[in-house]
Amino acid sequence: MSDDSRASWGSKIGLILASAGSAVGLGNLWRFPYIAAQNGGGSFLLIYLLFTFSIGITLVFAESALGIKTKSDPTGAFGWINPRLKIIGIIGVLTSAIIVPYYSVVGGWIVAYIVKSFSTISIENFETHFTDFISSPVQPLLFFYIYLLSTATVVYFGIENGIEKFCKLMMPLLFLLLIVLMVRVLTLDNALDGVKFFFLPDFSKVTAKTFLNAMGQVFFSISAGMGIYITYGSYVKNNDTPVAKTMYSVVILDVMVSLLTGLTIFPAVFSFGLPMNAGPALTFITLPKVFSAITFGQFFGFIFFVILLGAAITSSISLMEVVTTYLCDQVKISRKKAIFYYTLVCLVTGTLVSLSFGKLSGFKIGGKILFDQFDYLASNILLPVGGFLTAIAIGWVLGPEKLVISKNKALQKGFEFCIKWIAPICVFFILLNAVGLI
Ligand code: PHE
Repeated sequence: MSDDSRASWGSKIGLILASAGSAVGLGNLWRFPYIAAQNGGGSFLLIYLLFTFSIGITLVFAESALGIKTKSDPTGAFGWINPRLKIIGIIGVLTSAIIVPYYSVVGGWIVAYIVKSFSTISIENFETHFTDFISSPVQPLLFFYIYLLSTATVVYFGIENGIEKFCKLMMPLLFLLLIVLMVRVLTLDNALDGVKFFFLPDFSKVTAKTFLNAMGQVFFSISAGMGIYITYGSYVKNNDTPVAKTMYSVVILDVMVSLLTGLTIFPAVFSFGLPMNAGPALTFITLPKVFSAITFGQFFGFIFFVILLGAAITSSISLMEVVTTYLCDQVKISRKKAIFYYTLVCLVTGTLVSLSFGKLSGFKIGGKILFDQFDYLASNILLPVGGFLTAIAIGWVLGPEKLVISKNKALQKGFEFCIKWIAPICVFFILLNAVGLI
């Protein structure tokens, strides 16, 4: 890793905030509600929580501990376990290269909504306004370029100083605003139906697919399975940092933001009688409707989308940083060049992804437009595969006892058991099912 990027966090809180910045993002505020809605609400929530506090948290601990120990990028870290395992780091890089383009397309929508929040859209038009916007050939592309170039600029200037300060400001604001919104939405008519849908499990809706989707959501939401925490952990100076004690808060924060989002979106959906199957459009149609119904709604709308943008950019930065660090380190090109080439690749793929809502909507792979295909491939396949291989590498090749995540014996033993048995077995069977082998 080049020297300029190998700085260290100012404090433990730096690691926590940067990690939370990566974890909390579109996965919580945009993806979680519509995936939960498509998968039956309460039953999905239960499986999502189960996976988060078993497989998810174990991988966060494992990746962070590996980063802190090896002080290396993901390929170097896995290479330290065994040179042949470098491939696991490369899968992470590939995953990032797939997530960034479509993540940034949604990032572009947010930028557009911030601009739009200055003008009023009449209430009947929210649905058509959104679908017209994302399917038009020029506008979404322009906003996507703005978002992508802003992300690249932040990564270019380095993240240590910027990201710590940025997250410190953004996270509390995000929580505060979500709570205000949630309280307001919960007092709307029929709001309770939404709460019931979100919390009451309906097991008749649970299929093998629900497990795959919940697992995909867990990996995506906490940024597990592609070496983010290895990279961030490698910037920790103090090798004695208690991993579990430090990193559990990242997982808790991430889950809390998802819960707050669910408690805002579902009551809103029910009280406005909106369709539950709106898919990626859910946040962009439902929330503006809520904002238009509350006092100072336009102002709240503006603030909400600014915060959403902040949350998204801190995640994009972490995704881009993994690829940049890899290119500097392994391909041995300068940081400037790495960002330039990578941004170019994202520009091209992102353009195709954005157009898949309009001009290219006829082009489908396996019945899915490019946008959905990218998301499916990254969240449901590549991240879990990365997580599975991470668990095998640590649980079976390195030996989990070599990574100390806590001085508490029971916790350490629980971690070792999870990384060795629970995580790989669960992920393996769900993936087998996904590809139709069982
Ligand atoms: N966790 C981020 C979110 O919730 C997305 C992400 C996935 C970031 C994987 C990094 C790695 O939006």
